[in-house]
Amino acid sequence: MEMNKDLAKDSNKPVPDTIQKYRDYVITEFLKSVAPIVIASGTGAVITDTQGREYLDCFAGISVVNAGHCNPEVIAAARAQMEKLVHCSSYLYHVQPTADLAEKIAQITPGGLTKSFFGSSGAEAIEGALKLARLYTGKHEFIALQGSFHGRSYGALSVSGNWARKKGGGPYAAGVSFAPAPHVYRSFWRNDPEECGRQCAKAIEDIILFATSGDVAAFIAEPVMGEGGIITPPPNYFREVKKILDRHGILFIADEVQCGFARTGKMFAIEHFGVVPDILVTAKGIADGFPLSAFTTRPEIAAAFKPGDHLSTFGGNPVCCAAALANIKYMERENLCGYTAAMGDYAISRFREIQRDNSLIGDVRGLGLMIGIELVKDAMLTPASAEAEEVRDACLRQGLLVGVGGINGNVIRFQPPLVISRSQIDQAAGILSKVLQEVAPKK
Ligand SMILES: Cc1ncc(COP(=O)(O)O)c(C=O)c1O
Repeated sequence: MEMNKDLAKDSNKPVPDTIQKYRDYVITEFLKSVAPIVIASGTGAVITDTQGREYLDCFAGISVVNAGHCNPEVIAAARAQMEKLVHCSSYLYHVQPTADLAEKIAQITPGGLTKSFFGSSGAEAIEGALKLARLYTGKHEFIALQGSFHGRSYGALSVSGNWARKKGGGPYAAGVSFAPAPHVYRSFWRNDPEECGRQCAKAIEDIILFATSGDVAAFIAEPVMGEGGIITPPPNYFREVKKILDRHGILFIADEVQCGFARTGKMFAIEHFGVVPDILVTAKGIADGFPLSAFTTRPEIAAAFKPGDHLSTFGGNPVCCAAALANIKYMERENLCGYTAAMGDYAISRFREIQRDNSLIGDVRGLGLMIGIELVKDAMLTPASAEAEEVRDACLRQGLLVGVGGINGNVIRFQPPLVISRSQIDQAAGILSKVLQEVAPKK
């Protein structure tokens, strides 16, 4: 097994107790490796390991702690709620934090999306959204995007367009068709994003006509694709898509699990594209690290649920809801969206400077602080996948945490806590630049 291979290299060193327990008792066989560090604490954009070594965290626990590690306001709200009540099942009885959070989400979501259901994970919220779309429309099929990822449960994997995430679990649910992702850099229209947007949208109409039985309940898409390699659609894409969906009576489910809650410089990424989804799914950044998810929709769609159709034991947990409410209030008061937009532009400009001197970087793209640096070996855009892993591992050794994604595993993901400072971005860019110079393309 490849796990802890970095530690194995240093075999004279004793293995820390926590890592040994992982080896003995935690199922990690589905991972290539777990980073060989033991995290003890975190604050803002910095986490500290048990040896006291600090790391600049530019992955935020997979794009979760948007308001920073252990944001004091979020922690205080959760602690206060914990002293009063941790759980009673928020769907059996009324609890105030759940009600207050639902009201707040109704205020900040676009359009008339005013009713929320709460769960614990992104996948759980996706499952509920898919079910509700079927109940409301009376139709059964789905259209999703190639390269997308919507979670690890069966329905969520069925609408995920990524074989690597699905392998070992098939066959998946029938009635799902996949449309091309509006990935400008790898499309025929690299120099014409608008045409890329138009053609990829048009492909959805073709799919409705040629690949489905016309019984399509919903189209599901991440407004900015995360695991698929930070794919930012052209500005016209979702407008063109929505026109087609409306013509065919198909709902639009926006999966904002990864790109929501100020990550892209707007509270929800779909706001960049001038359309309102029918169902908006959120998780990750909603509660700054407390496990909570939601799907939010219009009252008439929510009314398609009938008694017995849905529930979740932990859904709307009072502690998580109190944390989420404090998190959103913090984001609003601190104008985290505006700050993220400015810092995102700055980070992209720094990474494009690095790109000028480094042939391994094919593309730098993103919105706000959801940024992808795609590594390629040559002008044919051959994915530099091994190199991306090497960059991530070398960054870790230099005290910088970044992610790797993309259908080919060749995209460095820069998704730090949104409270990261300009000088921390400089620090990250400095380490990345140095590491990238040292990593040569593999033949
Ligand atoms: C866009 C998107 N949707 C859904 C999920 C699933 O969320 P969770 O891991 O909380 O189930 C993820 C997780 O990475 C995601 O990125």
